[in-house]
Amino acid sequence: MRIVLLGPPGAGKGTFAEQASKTLGLPHISTGDLFRAAIKNETDLGKKVKDILAQGLLVPDDLTIGLVRQRLAEPDAQAGWILDGFPRTIPQAEALQEISPVEMVINLEVDDALILQRLTGRRICRNCGRIYHIVSMPPKKDGVCDVCGGELYTRPDDQESAIKTRLAAYREQTEPLVAWYDEKKLLVPLRGSGTPESVYSAFEKILQNRG
Ligand code: AP5
Repeated sequence: MRIVLLGPPGAGKGTFAEQASKTLGLPHISTGDLFRAAIKNETDLGKKVKDILAQGLLVPDDLTIGLVRQRLAEPDAQAGWILDGFPRTIPQAEALQEISPVEMVINLEVDDALILQRLTGRRICRNCGRIYHIVSMPPKKDGVCDVCGGELYTRPDDQESAIKTRLAAYREQTEPLVAWYDEKKLLVPLRGSGTPESVYSAFEKILQNRG
């Protein structure tokens, strides 16, 4: 199955994708994670996108589409994938239709007040990437990953000023994709405001109903 996750920053795309990837046995491909890995490894791509990510702006389409084209050509992506954070613009969505057409677009719906709460409380493991929240999904030991013992950190773009820029970029450049995919009868709306378990079980019911 080829699934795209749409939704504003902090809607819970990464959290949902972690669960879906385990349950459905599909690779979780996050363009945000690919960019952050490139920054960490100080690659040419990482140097180009470092400031863009820190400010909360979108990376230019040509760079992003090239990265996804390469990733989707890898062996583990041939039987399907869960794309988290791509596409984010209409040209990206058009490119994806040409590379490998999507079968289902989950639109995680969450209001702005909750987004701010979720992003300002998010912590991520520097080592394995596991996502936590200081209130709703705290680690057993403060600042330490339950899974691998790695150090938890706050993403630089989870500062309030960058969150505002990310939300504006979402409204201007990404939200039009909701209508775009709806027209193609691919859109599945999903309330993202419940617990991670309830959001995922609502998705499983949708899958069951589709047969
Ligand atoms: P990216 O990493 O994709 O960031 P984002 O879309 O802003 O999404 P987030 O990762 O912030 O949130 P999420 O929806 O995954 O939420 P999460 O599950 O972590 O992109 C970063 C940057 O890369 C962009 O700004 C851009 O610069 C660049 N980029 C990436 N893709 C690009 C593209 N296609 N084109 C151009 N540029 C691109 O959850 C958030 C918090 O809430 C966590 O703490 C979590 O524990 C908690 N939480 C989640 N779900 C629940 C729940 N159900 N109940 C309670 N708490 C929850």
